[in-house]
Amino acid sequence: MQDDSTTREERNTSATTSGASTRTSGTIGGERGVEQQLRHATSTSAAGVRLPSTRSLVARHSVSPLTVQRVVQRLVGEGLLETRAGAGTFVAVRRRARRADHSWQTTALGEARSEPTVVGTALAPTPVGTTALHYGYPMTDLLPGRLVRAAITRAARSPLGLDRAPVAGLPELRAWFAADAAGANREAPAHPDDVVIMPGGQSALSSIFRALAAPGDAIVMESPTYWGAIEAARQAGLRIVPVARGAGAPLSDKVDAAFGSSGAKLFYAQPHFANPTGALWSGADKRGILDIVRAHGAYLIEDDWAHDFGIDFDVTSLFGDDPDGHVIYVRSLTKSVAPSLRVGAAIARGPARQRIQADRTVDDLYVSGLLQVAALDVLTNPGWPAHLRYLRGELRLRRDELAREVVRHFGNEALTSMPRGGLNLWVSLPERTDVADLVIRSRDAGVMIAPGNVWFPTEAPGPFVRLNYTGAPPEQFAPALATLASLLH
Ligand SMILES: Cc1ncc(COP(=O)(O)O)c(C=O)c1O
Repeated sequence: MQDDSTTREERNTSATTSGASTRTSGTIGGERGVEQQLRHATSTSAAGVRLPSTRSLVARHSVSPLTVQRVVQRLVGEGLLETRAGAGTFVAVRRRARRADHSWQTTALGEARSEPTVVGTALAPTPVGTTALHYGYPMTDLLPGRLVRAAITRAARSPLGLDRAPVAGLPELRAWFAADAAGANREAPAHPDDVVIMPGGQSALSSIFRALAAPGDAIVMESPTYWGAIEAARQAGLRIVPVARGAGAPLSDKVDAAFGSSGAKLFYAQPHFANPTGALWSGADKRGILDIVRAHGAYLIEDDWAHDFGIDFDVTSLFGDDPDGHVIYVRSLTKSVAPSLRVGAAIARGPARQRIQADRTVDDLYVSGLLQVAALDVLTNPGWPAHLRYLRGELRLRRDELAREVVRHFGNEALTSMPRGGLNLWVSLPERTDVADLVIRSRDAGVMIAPGNVWFPTEAPGPFVRLNYTGAPPEQFAPALATLASLLH
């Protein structure tokens, strides 16, 4: 792009986008202003017309030349602009692409294993100015940002900053997960050799399902339950046998019947602060269900995703009571340490561990050593327990605030339970509410919510939404719930 004086096209585009440029300031707004101006120019000018110079865009939008280059590269990538060395940037010649025909893929692919509209619902990006109540991960204010940044810097200088990590994971990190899983003085402490380091909880679930069951096999699941587990089971070709669950554990006789009728050898469960309901198994529930799992010679996959999110309850894993290897334990640091540090673990005793390890190694060989070193650095930093104490207070505050607003607008019956930990409220809406329609209208009104149906392995038995209290600042809860109420009533 040439740094010359203003061209006629530039004056034209300047005139038409002046509103945008006066509204924007600082790097992000400025970058958007540059993009708006260039997009406008490409849509209103003929191919070959020269676009404004870098210098003039820099001056007009108060951005750096690098920012302008970034926007230009983006638009070049979209085929809207072309750059000519020494001559400048021009509106690209639009080639009429042949309309593609993908219809052959319908025959080639056959039946879909998972539901594309479900995958990613809770991961959808939040547009600027929108309140994120749909999201699954805590906002950055709730993360130990200082610890993580320092840990990443130190990890980059360690030998594993460049090298390959061991396939099962760093021995020190495996030892940390082993100690953490069973806690002190439990009947069945974990051994570091039982631990397989994973790139997060989701891949741990996928590996376990693939490694311990064959396509066509049954897997018992609580309903509702985590959509990612439902879809991972579908991807593995498993048949899901749902067992209804309310505010506590599913009834033991229903679990027993589900194993008996299906021949399942796997039971995926979230005994603590389940996503989405926040439900908790009691000590008696744990003992009762573990006995049933043993009687059926099956595995219980204990997804302890919310281990660090207890508000007035500390998690005691089932894993620590099971020396014989019926419980396979899954733990992830993604939500409590940082979503960018994709590190978790699966812990299994006996031959199951080897199968899980084999699946993991075939899937992606090993987890980045850089991330493992950084994760261990955070977990062993004296600031980590202090962060967890801070987090507990924040979770309580946010949960209470969001629950208050739910009850204010929708009544007590809407709040299915007051979770003692986790990140979510599970909200029951008036009968016959069209949840899909509400989700769209509420997004258009600036509030993102997650439709309840994605957490059911079969049809949703009623209209539910999941509201996360950690994805947005608490001062946004009251206006967001008022918006939802006005859309509903
Ligand atoms: C219950 C549950 N298990 C597992 C996961 C996967 O977590 P990760 O981000 O560690 O892959 C999630 C993420 O939302 C979850 O809610």
